[in-house]
Amino acid sequence: MDKLVITGGARLSGEVAISGAKNAALPILCACLLSSEPLTLSNVPNLNDIGTMLKLLAQMGVKIEREGDRVTLDASGLDNPLAPYELVKTMRASILVLGPLLARCGEARVSLPGGCAIGARPVDQHIKGLLAMGADIGVDHGYVVAKITDAGGKLKGARLFTDMVTVTGTENLMMAACLADGETVIENAAREPEVVDLAQCLVSMGAQISGAGTDLIRVRGVSRLHAASHRIMPDRIETGTFLCAAAATGGEVWLKGTSTGYLDAVVDKLLDAGCEISGEKTASHESIHLVAPKRLKAVSIRTAPYPAFPTDMQAQFMAINAVAEGTAIIRETIFENRFMHAVELQRLGADIKIDGNTAVMAGVEKLQGATVMATDLRASASLVIAGLVAEGDTHIERIYHLDRGYDHIEAKLTALGAAIRREKA
Ligand code: EPZ
Repeated sequence: MDKLVITGGARLSGEVAISGAKNAALPILCACLLSSEPLTLSNVPNLNDIGTMLKLLAQMGVKIEREGDRVTLDASGLDNPLAPYELVKTMRASILVLGPLLARCGEARVSLPGGCAIGARPVDQHIKGLLAMGADIGVDHGYVVAKITDAGGKLKGARLFTDMVTVTGTENLMMAACLADGETVIENAAREPEVVDLAQCLVSMGAQISGAGTDLIRVRGVSRLHAASHRIMPDRIETGTFLCAAAATGGEVWLKGTSTGYLDAVVDKLLDAGCEISGEKTASHESIHLVAPKRLKAVSIRTAPYPAFPTDMQAQFMAINAVAEGTAIIRETIFENRFMHAVELQRLGADIKIDGNTAVMAGVEKLQGATVMATDLRASASLVIAGLVAEGDTHIERIYHLDRGYDHIEAKLTALGAAIRREKA
């Protein structure tokens, strides 16, 4: 397994281009299943999770052309509504094919994702919503087996209420509703920008959706969706990760192709920590400029659904708090086991006390480089940030986690002046 070796101490400075959003691209790739006409996407990030999703769609019969950040998907030959365990176990977002397959083919067989490092992450709300829309769903040998038994062969519009805010649950149900008979209302819907990006893509395909970005989404079913093109939104979590890396090293960066618009809660906390941040938006491009102080002030955070502080940025803030001035409290309210990076940061000398879903931190002057292990995607990013500021070398093992969600992170960090290299196993 590859590892990253980082020699800490460099102050990051310069310009970096932010890639398209993983968590917008994944549901949008699945949206191609809803139509027999081509869907052309641009700004698709080059990530392992994207590769896995394309493999999953191809084995269903979707024809795929990929050139750089452009992907064209043609699901006219869709003939195998199956998502096998071998692929689903490597990427939980595979569950996002369930709604579209059911709506388009009238049936679907999707492996249950199984456990995940950061939590149980059940999909009961996805299933509850599809049942309410008239699907017949069972679990057979670890697979969700769904079928429309209604004579008309279509899902029925329904009023859905999710027990908790679920991003992919909202996305799955919104996609299924596009081809249902009648109107579907999703209450307690997720308001994440990635949900809005998916809705915009579906509308460009001919779907009738209103309210995306609010907690009440209305979808009026149509008979079919048509060809469309869509540009994936910038990755706000990659943006936040690079802002944190620059902030931790006392650096100055310009992030291109992204904006502060999707990250108010994160920008707010970086301003509290002592950074200067400004956004620039012209007709042709958007960017963020950050200047960090010599040493950050520690900031407390509490994760919650958008627009509150995103759970996907919690690990990165634990890293910047590790060397900030003062104490901070971090509360993780979304996932039950998303502090695994804490013990790795402690190996580097961080002062962190964990009590359930709360971490109490006291910033230290310096971390010491050591060998640490990545446990999940955002935990890996947290260890990279810590390695950038630690004294000496930090070896990060199992970085396949990192490659799932960051497009050539070591190349982008090297361009900003970091001393970082990948060592092949
Ligand atoms: C999405 O995961 C993101 N993934 C996650 O990003 C992100 O952390 C998460 O939303 C929260 O923002 C993608 O978009 C591909 P949820 P998702 O359903 O949809 C519980 C990353 O690092 N729940 O919003 O799986 C669940 O257990 C990844 O890029 C149920 O109980 O998350 C969790 O506690 C990690 N039953 C909470 O709701 C359900 O049916 C929120 O989960 C669904 C969810």
